[in-house]
Amino acid sequence: MLKYEITGGVRLKGKVRISGAKNAVLPILAATVLTQGKNIIRDVPHLKDVEVMIEVLKHLGAKVTFTGTVLEVDTTGLSVYEVPDDLMRKMRATVFLMGPLLGRFGKVRISQPGGCSIGPRPINFHIKGLKSLNTEFQEGHGYLLGESKSLVGNEIHLDFPSVGATENLMMGAVKAKGTTIIRNCAREPEIVDLQNFLNGIGARIRGAGTDMIKIDGVEKLQTIDYTVIPDRIETGTFMLATALTNGDVIIENTIPEHVEPLIAKLKEAGVEVGCNDDQIHVKGNGRLKALEVKTLPYPGYPTDLQPQIMTAMSVAEGTSIITETIFENRLKHAEELLRMGAAIRIEGHSAIINGMSKLYGAIVEASDLRAGAALVLAGLIAEGKTVIHGGEHIERGYEKIDEKIARLGGQINRIVE
Ligand code: EPZ
Repeated sequence: MLKYEITGGVRLKGKVRISGAKNAVLPILAATVLTQGKNIIRDVPHLKDVEVMIEVLKHLGAKVTFTGTVLEVDTTGLSVYEVPDDLMRKMRATVFLMGPLLGRFGKVRISQPGGCSIGPRPINFHIKGLKSLNTEFQEGHGYLLGESKSLVGNEIHLDFPSVGATENLMMGAVKAKGTTIIRNCAREPEIVDLQNFLNGIGARIRGAGTDMIKIDGVEKLQTIDYTVIPDRIETGTFMLATALTNGDVIIENTIPEHVEPLIAKLKEAGVEVGCNDDQIHVKGNGRLKALEVKTLPYPGYPTDLQPQIMTAMSVAEGTSIITETIFENRLKHAEELLRMGAAIRIEGHSAIINGMSKLYGAIVEASDLRAGAALVLAGLIAEGKTVIHGGEHIERGYEKIDEKIARLGGQINRIVE
């Protein structure tokens, strides 16, 4: 088990470099299954979730080497179309393999992905979309077997702009016969990154970033040397950490446009934010003003930055309201913040937060990766010492977060229990 010990009160100062985006790397690694050969993926973060995806690719028969931030994935020898239960349980994003494995083998067998602490996380949109591409599914004993004699393009209208379903269907349509149109699709930057990767290996896709994506099926694919986009959620987490500690930090290797919703909110709260093409300069400006935040699909405010801004609002001036509209159960971190002296009331999918003058260090538990990040931010501003158990959740999505915070002056220790 892993815990973090943080002593609050330090204003973060200096520079931090953002790692490659976890939620871009995972679907792109799944997409390598469509190719036969060696792909080079650059700016890959060392994260638990990336390690699991590498384990899955090796299980399928790929050869993978990871040197520095460069991943080499050779999928020539792929021979397995099944993802075993133990690997599925480690990370639900293995769901992204359905489209690519159907595209490669015409078959896929996965165990039904479980839910997680933020919600049941069903995959009905994925299944419905793949069925419309001429796939048949059989369910039984916790497993799902998908088979398609030949994938055929179709028009798909997603009930909800699901990120994973959009990505799975894009990958499933790459080698389908004819044209596929996905309407009401997700518009996140990671979808655009996946389109760029797929077009780089020879697919014919356009429209990613809008609410309609068009895919013309192709037969031949090649391999590519590809660099993934920086992580916008890590970016936002460090922006909030800087604003909260009244610090002064330059965030490097990032894309300001990808965190536009947070930049707008921070300026509304009185924080100074300056941007140029690949940097964001955040300067605290005293106590934050209270805000109203509602999470929405991109380009709305991202659900993955909701726990972190709840921490910020716990010490803002005034009463804030945060409404979570994406996941059913993503307000649990409020309970842990209450233990640190926050004043938060949950009403349905909303949190009403009365800003306090300070938080107090306590022993708290991270229930998932972004709730863990919210507790790290709380520890940075709390009076005294905070101990965060469940640090392994945090490391699923944040590369060397203790080293990055320490380099900015924060007092944080990573302890393996
Ligand atoms: C992706 O998850 C991200 N994960 C999540 O990041 C992120 O929070 C989420 O998109 C929303 O932006 C990866 O990219 C690996 P969805 P995903 O499908 O694809 C419901 C993090 O912290 N839904 O857009 O699973 C679903 O239950 C993680 O890095 C269905 O009902 O999200 C949820 O309520 C957490 N049926 C909503 O849609 C489906 O078939 C949005 O889910 C699919 C989804």
